[in-house]
Amino acid sequence: MKITVVGTGYVGLVSGACLADVGNDVLCLDVDPAKIRTLEEGGIPIHEPGLLEIVRRNVAAGRLSFTTDVEYAARFGAIQFIAVGTPPDEDGSADLQYVLAAARNIGRHMDGYRVVVNKSTVPVGTGDKVRAAIAAELGARGADLSFSVVSNPEFLKEGAAVEDFMRPDRIIVGAEDERAIQLMRELYGPFQRNHEKLLVMDVRSAELTKYAANAMLATRISFMNELANLAEVLGADIELVRQGIGSDPRIGWHFLYAGCGYGGSCFPKDVKALVSTGREHGRDLLILNSVEQANDAQKLRLVDKIVARFGPDLSGMHFGLWGLAFKPNTDDMRDAPSRVVIGELFRRGATVAAYDPVAMSEARRIFGDDPRLRYVDRPMAALEGADALVIVTEWKEFRSPDFVRVRELLRHPVVFDGRNMYEPVTMKRAGLEYHGIGRS
Ligand code: UDX
Repeated sequence: MKITVVGTGYVGLVSGACLADVGNDVLCLDVDPAKIRTLEEGGIPIHEPGLLEIVRRNVAAGRLSFTTDVEYAARFGAIQFIAVGTPPDEDGSADLQYVLAAARNIGRHMDGYRVVVNKSTVPVGTGDKVRAAIAAELGARGADLSFSVVSNPEFLKEGAAVEDFMRPDRIIVGAEDERAIQLMRELYGPFQRNHEKLLVMDVRSAELTKYAANAMLATRISFMNELANLAEVLGADIELVRQGIGSDPRIGWHFLYAGCGYGGSCFPKDVKALVSTGREHGRDLLILNSVEQANDAQKLRLVDKIVARFGPDLSGMHFGLWGLAFKPNTDDMRDAPSRVVIGELFRRGATVAAYDPVAMSEARRIFGDDPRLRYVDRPMAALEGADALVIVTEWKEFRSPDFVRVRELLRHPVVFDGRNMYEPVTMKRAGLEYHGIGRS
């Protein structure tokens, strides 16, 4: 099949590359010539395990190409994916300008039947707006040219996006006509070889499904974080509580890890957007409002603990910090807890030496040459001259550090661990004062 993917960001590039990998002809369009140049030169603009190989393999095979030409792109694929950004507006609602611009370009230049598939996370009702935008551009040509609008939200996790696309749990297709449904079934055939994973529903339900999934997962995390904060004052251990409840199949094991808050490009944005959608329609979403508030507070928990230990005025203090990305295996720092932690340490007069295996250049882009932040190239280098260690992201390489060395390097043998990476008894034995989340 011939497919156009509009937007070579995270979702667009992963989808385009994976669709090419199963034999489709895929053209990826982006308005940013720098991104397209990077891709044409054999690079990728994001860090995602396995993606570079797939991109290169399919470019070499002639199945994957890139363009900035909107007209060519609209004429290329019978299936047109829209996978552009929906950044939050000031009020938290998703900004649809890029989605609608993509829809208009398709309407302006299409020359045959098109299935326009929305992969961007968009508020319920966007399918109708996309349909109207295309119809308006088509004008009188609409008598000869027909199209369908489909909602097909993505459930890709950064760091595991290729695997998630290749082996999905489910494929949600919101569509209202048979022709489009049939094409989507063919398109996704190769990704559901062993059993049916495609769920067909109306467009609005598909749009809401995406938000519901992310909001539910965010809720679980905020719930556990809240209980962790309670466990601390009660003298209970949240890790044991997690095991105690996760073993109930009605609850399950996933997304029950307490920590220093969720970040990333989806949870914070989607929870806000859903709250805002509720408000627009006269429904105050009490639970989700609290999920967001609880998460904002949780991002400050590590600093709360630092303040409880060293006092509110941290001027003259210096902290070693491990992990800047919002989670391991990505360089993404969007809404990352590290940003809140570093900002709050600065505000209280402290300086920081930070290490992350892949997000260093992203951190430089965000913090610039702030003299209060030193970038180091090894975990242990962050501890030289530091008063204490703060862990924000659970990278694998932090799992088993030389604790003797950690203790020797730190001026105070204190570790604040926002991801509960270590057992409190191990830390005690190593002579380290350990502050986890929900356990001590
Ligand atoms: C998420 C969804 O999982 C994915 O399906 C959707 O398409 C996009 O949003 P992603 O943002 O890449 O994916 O990361 P995810 O692995 O879900 O983690 C999100 C955040 O929650 C991270 O900051 C992580 O540290 C935090 N988290 C996750 C916890 O604090 N505790 C947990 O138990 C799980």
